[in-house]
Amino acid sequence: MHLYVLFMVCMAAALGPWGPPAFGADDAVLRPRVPTDKIEEAKTWSNPFDATSENIEKGKAIFHGKAFCATCHGKDGKGLGSDIDQGSFKGPLPRNFTDKEWQAARTDGELFWILKHGSKGTAMASFIPLILTEEEAWQVLRYVRSFGQP
Ligand code: HEC
Repeated sequence: MHLYVLFMVCMAAALGPWGPPAFGADDAVLRPRVPTDKIEEAKTWSNPFDATSENIEKGKAIFHGKAFCATCHGKDGKGLGSDIDQGSFKGPLPRNFTDKEWQAARTDGELFWILKHGSKGTAMASFIPLILTEEEAWQVLRYVRSFGQP
């Protein structure tokens, strides 16, 4: 009986009062994406490229060009790229990079880790080293960060 109650309490906590988790809900978005045994290391990595307009421009060209990030994350970074049909997209939707709360919740190192390893259980694949060099990845992240600016 005790275990059953515990189970119900856990389910209620996991699902929340309004039913199954809706992706795009704040908690689901802010939950860390880097696995717990890797995240401490990832958080120590910092972007070697400063947020100069030159570096942001280089990142922009990659985002809209050869790395095709925009097809999923959208031209405006809002996560509704031309390839996204929200009804049929499997798994969590691509991140909305203009969400300031999300921007604040992530370190550069965590974002870099995802570009390197992909995000398990989502459509986000690994981009380093097949499509991006590490330098290009840091540049594209400068552009990703620029979506969070006013
Ligand atoms: C095939 C579609 C697709 C492409 C192409 C794609 N992404 Fe993603 N991306 C996603 C999805 C889906 C997620 C996972 C959202 C989640 O974790 O809930 C994601 C997650 C991310 C994350 C982690 C977000 C977080 O919350 O930590 C980053 C950073 C990211 N993408 C950047 C990029 C960049 C930069 C490119 C281009 C090099 C790119 N993505 C290309 C679909 C895509």
